[in-house]
Amino acid sequence: MYRTHTCGALNAAHVGQEVTLAGWVQKTRDKGFLIWADLRDRYGVTQLIFDEQRTLEHVFQQAKSLGREYVIQVRGTVIERESKNPNMPTGDIEILVSELTILNEAQLPPFTIEDETDGGEDLRMKYRYLDIRRNPVKNALLFRHKVAMEVRNYLSNLDFCEIETPYLIKSTPEGARDFVVPSRMNEGQFYALPQSPQTFKQLLMVGGMDKYFQIVKCFRDEDLRADRQPEFTQIDCEMAFVEQEDILNVFEGLTRHLLSAIKGVEVEKFPRITYDYAMKTYGNDKPDIRFDMKFGELNDVAKRRKGAGNGIATFKEFTEFLIFEEAELVVGIAAPGCATYTRKEIDALIDWVKRPQVGASGMVYVKCEEDGTYKSSVDKFYDQEDLAKWAEITGAKAGDMIFVLSGPADKTRAQLSALRMELATRLGLRNPAEFAPLWVVDFPLLELDEESGRWHAMHHPFTSPKPEDMELLATNPGKVRANAYDMVLNGNEIGGGSIRIHDKATQQLMFKYLGFTEDEARNQFGFLMDAFQFGAPPHGGLAFGLDRLVAILGGQETIRDFIAFPKNNSGRDVMIDAPSVIDEGQLKELHIKLR
Ligand code: AMO
Repeated sequence: MYRTHTCGALNAAHVGQEVTLAGWVQKTRDKGFLIWADLRDRYGVTQLIFDEQRTLEHVFQQAKSLGREYVIQVRGTVIERESKNPNMPTGDIEILVSELTILNEAQLPPFTIEDETDGGEDLRMKYRYLDIRRNPVKNALLFRHKVAMEVRNYLSNLDFCEIETPYLIKSTPEGARDFVVPSRMNEGQFYALPQSPQTFKQLLMVGGMDKYFQIVKCFRDEDLRADRQPEFTQIDCEMAFVEQEDILNVFEGLTRHLLSAIKGVEVEKFPRITYDYAMKTYGNDKPDIRFDMKFGELNDVAKRRKGAGNGIATFKEFTEFLIFEEAELVVGIAAPGCATYTRKEIDALIDWVKRPQVGASGMVYVKCEEDGTYKSSVDKFYDQEDLAKWAEITGAKAGDMIFVLSGPADKTRAQLSALRMELATRLGLRNPAEFAPLWVVDFPLLELDEESGRWHAMHHPFTSPKPEDMELLATNPGKVRANAYDMVLNGNEIGGGSIRIHDKATQQLMFKYLGFTEDEARNQFGFLMDAFQFGAPPHGGLAFGLDRLVAILGGQETIRDFIAFPKNNSGRDVMIDAPSVIDEGQLKELHIKLR
């Protein structure tokens, strides 16, 4: 037996016991006649003591040779510590060592294995196995396991069955590029790794499995960000004989359970807002509603000319206003308590919105002074009465500052949304211990790809249009709403899904609107349309991003910290050095010629 206890288990109740522990040497302190070593494993740290008087000579000498991260096994007696450490579970005791076995020596680690390490991101990724020995990373992985177990238990108790679906498949469009795998046995042919198990879970519904889930890897070749990895994990779910309402209720239940079981946070019924409302009110389809700062549209009060916005505002007295007069949208937010901002702070914020990443051409501000008056950067053109209306519409109170942007509607909303998030961060309104989930529903079915001029499925091509919008498909495709929904938590899209099309004719029609020829549709999705002819039940589902969900529950937005072996921003695993070239022979077998 390697050990009788773990390094986190012993306390004053064990004093006098003979124990065996194994683990890593965190650090040693050599006082000449006394040597202390901290022994660490996954469960904690236990202090070892070697005493020249009480420890056998050869053991004492061995202890002197211990280096950081040596793997050792010790036998000894639990004794009470002279100077106790109330911050450690094992802080009352230490082990007076009688036997020491060095199981493995270790090179000096390239960074310190402490909660606060001196290792930079790159170094930690290269030696990720050492990084995992650190509490923050270890705890993130244990936390992830806990969330995954809660999910499995909750869904299993509701009769969901976890079923594995294949990884070597044919392209499933989720809007990203596929990772492909060449087939040795089928020259010139490739598998695609699933962007999600979407079609398989629908086929499981045709197969009568009724309630499916899977905690599953998905692969998407897309540009990486803090909340995106090329391989990530979904909690993928599907149900048969359901309407949107059923799905929302089940998965709201799951999320509420997770918040309660994992965070001890009880949440009321999740608000539901439409996509249109989200875009108009927050400029964003994944609004952070932990704070207010709703958009106030100011066209009616900031534009003097009726019909402005069509580029015909040329009256001389309005020359200075052309920006507002000609803008499609004038929209503002009230930043709470920001009326005290200095000229310098305001200028810095204006520079911030003008950065290419945000792209505004300028910004107007209105200080709502404590005495009820207004002071703005457009005082020459708007009087107190005008500005009072702006304050009313944006919900600004005395002490607040109104920031106003103008321009093309969609772009301006996106810019103001970026400013809203930035201000909230600066004002400390994005408290990671607070949780504000909501549903965004009624997503558009299609979106126009400006480059190709083609319509794309906003969610995926299997999403059903709202029946009442079906006839708009031919005349005004952009206006067709889908039975599609996202779950949003603290400004992040943590899940999304839809009610699916379950009949061949509608699915064929959808492919047609998406610009697939009949042959292309047949080639890529013939199997699904075939299945729909053999009694497909009405069905729908959703998938959560497990990495994102775990990160947000853990109070962070960078998913990499919650993934054992993540990729870096260039999609590389710097530890194993992948991707990498493969040898000639392997290429030949795969029938691949590199130019
Ligand atoms: P969707 O594409 O919205 O839906 O993905 C579901 C959820 O997966 C997470 N996610 C990601 N997480 C990390 N890295 C990525 N690259 C990444 N891409 C997506 C998000 C997202 O909400 N088949 C449908 C689901 C359905 O219709 O049932 C799908 O995959 O949190």
